[in-house]
Amino acid sequence: MFSRLIFLSVLCLFSEATSSLAQAPKKVMAPKSVSKLPAKGSVDFKVDSVLKLMTLEEKIGQLNLLTSDLDQTGASMRPQYKEDILKGKVGAIFNAYGVEYVRKLQKMAVEETRLKIPLIFGYDVIHGHRTIFPSPLGESCSWDLEAMETSARIAALEASSMGLDWTFAPMVDIARDPRWGRVMEGAGEDTYLGSLIAKARVKGFQGSSLSDPTRVMACAKHYAAYGAAQAGRDYSTVDMSDRTLRDVYLPPFKAAADAGSATFMTSFNELNGIPATANKYLMDQILRKEWGFKGFVVTDYTAIWELLFHGIAADSVEAVKKSILAGSDMDMQASMYMQRLPGLVKSGAVPVSVIDESVRRVLRKKFELGLFANPFIRMDAEREKKNVYTSAHLNMARQIAAKSMVLLKNDHNTLPLKLTAQKIALVGPLADAARDMMGSWSAAGEGEKNATLLTGLKGSLTSSQVEYKKGCEINDTVRAGFAEALKACANSDIVICAMGEGAWQSGEAASRSDIKLPGVQEEFLAEVKKLGKPVVLVLFNGRPLDLTNVLPNADAILEAWYPGTMAGWAVTDVLAGVVNPSAKLTMTFPRNVGQVPIYYNMKNTGRPYDANNKYTSKYLDVRNDPLFAFGYGLSYSTFLYSSPKLSAKSIGMKDTLNVTVNVKNTSTRHGEEIVQLYVQDMAGSVTRPINELKGFQKVMINSGETKTVVFKLTSNDLRFHNQDMNFVAEKGLFTVRVGGSSDATQSDEFELR
Ligand code: GLC
Repeated sequence: MFSRLIFLSVLCLFSEATSSLAQAPKKVMAPKSVSKLPAKGSVDFKVDSVLKLMTLEEKIGQLNLLTSDLDQTGASMRPQYKEDILKGKVGAIFNAYGVEYVRKLQKMAVEETRLKIPLIFGYDVIHGHRTIFPSPLGESCSWDLEAMETSARIAALEASSMGLDWTFAPMVDIARDPRWGRVMEGAGEDTYLGSLIAKARVKGFQGSSLSDPTRVMACAKHYAAYGAAQAGRDYSTVDMSDRTLRDVYLPPFKAAADAGSATFMTSFNELNGIPATANKYLMDQILRKEWGFKGFVVTDYTAIWELLFHGIAADSVEAVKKSILAGSDMDMQASMYMQRLPGLVKSGAVPVSVIDESVRRVLRKKFELGLFANPFIRMDAEREKKNVYTSAHLNMARQIAAKSMVLLKNDHNTLPLKLTAQKIALVGPLADAARDMMGSWSAAGEGEKNATLLTGLKGSLTSSQVEYKKGCEINDTVRAGFAEALKACANSDIVICAMGEGAWQSGEAASRSDIKLPGVQEEFLAEVKKLGKPVVLVLFNGRPLDLTNVLPNADAILEAWYPGTMAGWAVTDVLAGVVNPSAKLTMTFPRNVGQVPIYYNMKNTGRPYDANNKYTSKYLDVRNDPLFAFGYGLSYSTFLYSSPKLSAKSIGMKDTLNVTVNVKNTSTRHGEEIVQLYVQDMAGSVTRPINELKGFQKVMINSGETKTVVFKLTSNDLRFHNQDMNFVAEKGLFTVRVGGSSDATQSDEFELR
C-alpha cells in the first residue's frame, strides 16, 4: 500500500509536470509526435513518469547491482552497500534472501530515499533454492522437459517466498569441454536439446507473468559462448567463426529470449577479440536488433572492471564508456557505472539518452514485477514458512533426481539389487558426504539436510545389513583407510562404491586438466575389485570423467551427478529397482582428456578414420570414439529398434517427412526409453556435422510391448548458416538415424529437392 502512494505521488508529479507544460511559455517545445508518447496508464507511461523525476545520479543508481554480505559469489565486496542504498545509488541487490533481511533493505530504499524506487533482489538459484534439485547437467540427462520446467517452477516458488525477484539462471552455455568446471551448470553439448531446455527453464522460473509473486525473473547466461573457453580453462579466450557462434552457441540464448527471459547476463570471456561485456555485435546487433529483446542486460561479476585486464580499456572511464555504449545496462558489483558515468554524461561522451534507455529497461521490469505497486510483494513471512521444503517439493526432487541418473554399465545384471537380505559393504568418500550431494551453485541449500547414500541405503533396504567404511578421501593420497574398508568388502555379498568429485571440483573457477577420479579413488576401486565381489560404482560428479581405468573394475556403474537434497533416497530408488533408470548422457564421456574437445556432432574431415589407412584422422595411442557417447544410457529393460521407415524418399522444401520406428521392450521389466532422431546432411555449401539431433521422444514401453514412434521432419529442421551466412536448408541427400544413442547405426536416406 505504501508504495502505491509512492507511485501515485510520482504519477501526480508527472501529470502536474506535463499539465504545467501545456500552459508553459512558447519556448518549451511540446513533444513532436504525441502518438510517440506511451499510452496513459501503460507500463511505459509509468516508467517515463518516474524517469522524468530522476536526477542523473539517481538514474545511474538504477544501473548499479551490489552484493549484500549475506552470501558471497565473487572476490570483491562493497561493505558500504547499505549507505549506497540510502543515497539512491543502488537499483538491485544480490546474494540477499530471507524475508526479514530483504525487507529491511527494501524499507531503506522505499522509505528513506528521495524517490523511493524499490530494489530488485537477485540470487543464483541455479538448481533449486532450499530444496535442491539435481545439478543442471545431471537434470538435462532426464531429457524430460516437463520435469525441468517443474524443478525451475519449484525453485521460483521457494525463492520468491524468501524475498527474491530474480534468479541468475538458466545457464544456457553449450559446452563441449569437460575440463571446464561450469559444464555442471548447463545442459550439455547439443544445441537442439539445449535450446529446448533453455525454454523450459525460463518458463519454469517466469511462468506467464512476472506480476505473479510466486515467479521470478530469469537471466539467460553467460552471453555468449563462454563454454568454448580455450583449453577448458575458466574465463579463457573464446575465438570462433560467426557460423559456429550462430549454429552452435547462440540458439539456446535465442530460445531463452523467445521464451521471454526478462534479462541476460554478459559472460566474462572475450569473443573474437571483444569481451562480451563491451560487445556491441552481441548485445545490440544480435540480441536487440535481430532478436527484438526488450529486457535488460546485466554484466557478470565485476566484468566491466575486467575490461582493463582484457586490455581493451586503458582506464576505468574507457571501460565504462565501452560497456554502456555496447549495451550492458547494469553493472554487477564493479561500482564503476556509479563512479564514472556522471562524468561521461557531463562531458558528452555518453549521451543521457543512452542512460535513459538503460534505466527504462530496468524500471520496466520493476513495474512488471509488481514492485512499484508493492515493494514487499515477495516478502511474506507466512509464505516463507509454508512454501519451503514442502513434502511435495522434496518428493519431486527425489523423482527428478532418479530420472537424471545414467546407467553406464550393468554386467551380469548386477543391478537392480536383490531385495532379499544381504550384506552390503558401502565404501568410498562420497558415501556419506552430505554437503557434496548438492554440488556447486546450490543457492540457499542446506548441506546438512541432504540425504546421503548411506542414509538412503539404511533407510530403504531395511532387510539388508549395510556396513559403511570410507576407505579414502576424495582428493588426497592417503591409503591408510584401505585395509579397514577392504575387510568390510571381503565380508559382504556386494560392494557399493560411492566415488567422484567434491562439490568444489566443478562449477566456477574449477577447471581440471585431468578428469579422472581425483586422489587415490581409482587405486582403491582396483583393490576392491580384486576381492572378487560384485562391485557397483555410484558416481557423484559435476562433469564427464575419464572412466577408462574405472570401467573394468566395476560390474555396474551409475552416474548419479549431484542429485541434491534427496540424493540418497533417489540413488537407492534406482539401485533397488524402484525406479528403472531411463536417463541418457547429454555430454560425451571421453576415453581420456587427450581426446578433448570431443562431441558427437563433429565434422567428418577429408580423411575420416580408416583402420586400414595410416594417413587418416586418428591418434596413435587412443581410439577416436568416446568411452560413452552423447545420448547413451542403459535401462533395466532392453529395447530392440527396427530400421527407420520414411514416408518418402524425396521431399520438397514445403513437405513433411514422417520417420517411423518400432521399438520393442524385449525384457521382463516395463521401462522408459528416449528414442532419438538424428540427421546427417551428406553434402552442403559448407562442411556439415556427421550427426545432428533433430528430435526425441521419451516413451514408456511395457515388457514385451512394441511401440511405434513417429517423428516429423521439414526443411526448417535442416537449416544452417550456409556459405553466404544465410540461414537456409539446402537441397541434397540426407541420412536419417534413429536409436537409443547418437551412435545408432540403423538408417535410411531421403533427398531434399
Ligand atoms: C559469478 C558467475 C555468475 C553468477 C554471478 C553472481 O561470477 O559467473 O554465473 O550469476 O557471479 O553470483
